[in-house]
Amino acid sequence: MATPAAATVHLADYTPAPYRIPRTELCFRLGSHGTMVASRLELEPNPVAASGPLLLWGLDLELLELKLDGEPLPAEAFVLKPDHLLLPQPPRRPFVLETLVRIHPETNSTLEGLYVSGGLFTSQCEAEGFRRITFHPDRPDLLSRFRVRIEADLETCPVLLCNGNCIETGGLPPEPGAAAVTPPTRHYAIWDDPFPKPSYLFALVAGRLEEVRDRFTTASGREVALRIHVEPGDAPYTAHAMASLKRAMAWDEQRYGLEYDLDEYNIVAVRHFNMGAMENKSLNIFNSKLVLADAETATDAELERIESVIAHEYFHNWTGNRITCRDWFQLSLKEGLTVFRDQSFTEDLHGAALNRIENVALLRNTQFREDAGPTAHPVQPDSYQAIDNFYTTTIYEKGAELIRMLHTVLGEETFMRGMALYVQRHDAAPPPVMTSCRPCRMRSGARHPSTRSVPPLVSPGRHTRAADPASLGWRCRRAGAADPPAHPPTPGQHRKHPVVIPLALGLIDQAGTELPLQLEGEPAPSPGTRLLVIDREEQSLRLVGLPRRQHPPALSLLRQFSHR
Ligand code: SER
Ligand code: ZN
Repeated sequence: MATPAAATVHLADYTPAPYRIPRTELCFRLGSHGTMVASRLELEPNPVAASGPLLLWGLDLELLELKLDGEPLPAEAFVLKPDHLLLPQPPRRPFVLETLVRIHPETNSTLEGLYVSGGLFTSQCEAEGFRRITFHPDRPDLLSRFRVRIEADLETCPVLLCNGNCIETGGLPPEPGAAAVTPPTRHYAIWDDPFPKPSYLFALVAGRLEEVRDRFTTASGREVALRIHVEPGDAPYTAHAMASLKRAMAWDEQRYGLEYDLDEYNIVAVRHFNMGAMENKSLNIFNSKLVLADAETATDAELERIESVIAHEYFHNWTGNRITCRDWFQLSLKEGLTVFRDQSFTEDLHGAALNRIENVALLRNTQFREDAGPTAHPVQPDSYQAIDNFYTTTIYEKGAELIRMLHTVLGEETFMRGMALYVQRHDAAPPPVMTSCRPCRMRSGARHPSTRSVPPLVSPGRHTRAADPASLGWRCRRAGAADPPAHPPTPGQHRKHPVVIPLALGLIDQAGTELPLQLEGEPAPSPGTRLLVIDREEQSLRLVGLPRRQHPPALSLLRQFSHR
């Protein structure tokens, strides 16, 4: 998909937005021949940014009104282009900007912004779809409190959904000029989301949907109404998704200490949703195939997939929504972390070993190939033309492996303390930079997010009877430093630097029994898996005190696929 301006965006060019938007009010008047969107943005100068013009992106918007502090803006005070609205000299004080635009969801075939499909209004704003709804800076580091009013026809749109909590509903008087009717044929709903969020998490759904209800009580006693909205006739197939949601909510409390934060949680499952699933704050939208399961015919794999995607979108409520990204270069900071969390959830529920094998098989079959081909890119790219092209297995699966690596190196307890600190520091404030967390600052650890292709681990290890104590050498070489190069160059990265690679190993005898293991320099052998961190270009380790048996014991390397 193309962005409006096909200009390349560079990570190095990031600058904070000149204005913050503490509050956003939207009013939608949904219609079958055009929809009116009134927007009221409360803006204020951003104290950490240099002053500058106000850039509001907008695509396929018909601007009908533009007001600053209630007064129509004179033509010389703004510039309107096909993809944006610019205020060259906005006030350097708090002010209110109001726009009224007409959009056409009924003919919008981009599957971004607000569109009608199968008679249902559905939205998709990640990554840059909000600009198809109203004029807006539409960048992930601008968080705002949203209040949204939706007005629609009662007959065609009995269900009106948005983010947050529904605080008011009611009937509407007839449109001006139309004959008065009783009962009313139009109605409205007002939704308030108390948590500041970036525009890509905005969602609106309106139409004819069937509702399945349940409840969840959080660890601190908050009652949450759970609702799954499906196309008429699909309600009998939602039980597994609902049970999965409740398991995910309980797991996040138990493992991460993270509770749900609103009074309601809505999932919409429709057949024509293109993105698979989307974590919009408290209004997840799914393709039906990732929600509906027929108890008679669904396979174990289908059930597990539904459970993990429901969990993935739920886990985004903290990793992605409350803790969001500074810019789209940090996409993996929410996706890699959330994939790691959904993988851990499935491992806890269904067994770690099998799940790990499946995830590594996926990584090898898809991400390794991507990394070996012309579209290879780092987990944190340094530039892009269209961010929509970066929803890749590198961002998701390799990103999850980097988080797993941190978990492996730090151990469960330290990792969880780090996560708690990350949440505490960055709640409603974008993370400053992707490698600022302490583990990433480990020597050469910070290189992973910017490294393309799979870092190799070359083992010219020897293990012979004659050489006792046995020794095993490990080398991780720079490209071109030896023949063949350990880590071949990729486009844009001619020199590869060594990166951190955790190496879990153990020792087993010929009968498969685990033996205690002693590394040179250690006073005594100890049993179980040993974790080494390979962080130099060439590193060797030496095992000592091996039993003198006819058949030497075998090294069991890279346990749990500690890495490649
Ligand atoms: N942000 C979405 C997800 O990964 C994109 O589909 O859940
Ligand atoms: Zn995700």
